[in-house]
Amino acid sequence: MTILIPPAASVGQPAGAIDTPALVLDLDVFERNLARMQQAADRAGVKLRPHAKAHKTPAIALAQIARGAVGICCQKVSEAVPFVRAGVTDIHISNEIAGPAKAALLAQLALRARMSVCVDDARQVAELAAAAARAGSTIGVLVEIDIGQGRCGVADAPAALHLVQAIRAHGQLAFRGLQAYHGGLQHVRGAAERARAVAAAGARTAAVVAALAEAGVACETVTGGGSGSAEFDLAGGVYTELQPGSYVFMDGDYGSNEYGGALCFEYSLFVASTVMSVAAAHGAAPRVVVDAGLKSLAVDSGLPLAWGAQGRSATLDYVAANDEHGIVEPRAGATAAALPALGSQMLLVPGHCDPTLNLYDEIVGIRGQAVASLWPVAARGLSR
Ligand SMILES: Cc1ncc(COP(=O)(O)O)c(C=O)c1O
Repeated sequence: MTILIPPAASVGQPAGAIDTPALVLDLDVFERNLARMQQAADRAGVKLRPHAKAHKTPAIALAQIARGAVGICCQKVSEAVPFVRAGVTDIHISNEIAGPAKAALLAQLALRARMSVCVDDARQVAELAAAAARAGSTIGVLVEIDIGQGRCGVADAPAALHLVQAIRAHGQLAFRGLQAYHGGLQHVRGAAERARAVAAAGARTAAVVAALAEAGVACETVTGGGSGSAEFDLAGGVYTELQPGSYVFMDGDYGSNEYGGALCFEYSLFVASTVMSVAAAHGAAPRVVVDAGLKSLAVDSGLPLAWGAQGRSATLDYVAANDEHGIVEPRAGATAAALPALGSQMLLVPGHCDPTLNLYDEIVGIRGQAVASLWPVAARGLSR
């Protein structure tokens, strides 16, 4: 007889009965986050193209589009496939690609959806043109400029213009504009300091847009920005389109930013864990052990935050992650009495949402204290 692993949760069940570790989304908070970003973009007259690498979940992309997003970004070509299958019709690959296999898949997707991709080298342009010609599709192309991140992108306007000319030489490529993204800016902690850094990067972008205009090249789209810079990008007047991702969930890292007040998001995403050992709860170093460690939580941007009934726990800290164990201790000033009992459920806010999502097959949506939805993380693991 085949032994089946029971599902982590089923719709209608109490949230406290979810089998752990499980990825849990507070749907009321999530919907408030969606609305805040969309309304801010609408007020500024800027298009919203949320980044789907944060959630990898078609149900979430469709919820964003239903509220007014023009489409989504993906970071990889294969990542886009489940979204196209689910009916998303406008996807920007906010990244460069190299190699005929990826170009061929992109050209195939472009038969089903309006697809675009970034370039920063004329050889990428040639590869895209060849794939689009073979498939009989049209691929949108944006030139990426480096506005200080030191990752992909050409350095200046002459290099950008050179690529625009290369793109325009191919009938099956459509030049759509510029991508200007600076990841480092997103995590500058102070609001005023981040606003200054965003303004400086925006000025670099505006200078390239102006130089292209002078050469007779209009940029229909100037895309970039993220959850940390959005409030300042929207006010800056440089971007026609923003591509934030993490705002739907927030995470420990983004929670460490100070926000200007115009645009704030709440924690909606948690890893539900269970206290599996209290053997040391009353020892010399009081602690309990939960069943969510490195294989259930990404810790590259810091350890998860312990969450209590009223928000971030005032008495507990998650202090260390092993492969499948998490160590939870009373915070300085608290006593062992604060430690949770064996078998109790403990919610944790991941330090970094994107790679945490990539560890799960499904998102368990809760409303109040009940499981309300189960959404497949269909693009999980699709990083080709
Ligand atoms: C190209 C690009 N656009 C947008 C984002 C925005 O993501 P987030 O809002 O999650 O920081 C990222 C994140 O790494 C990115 O690489």
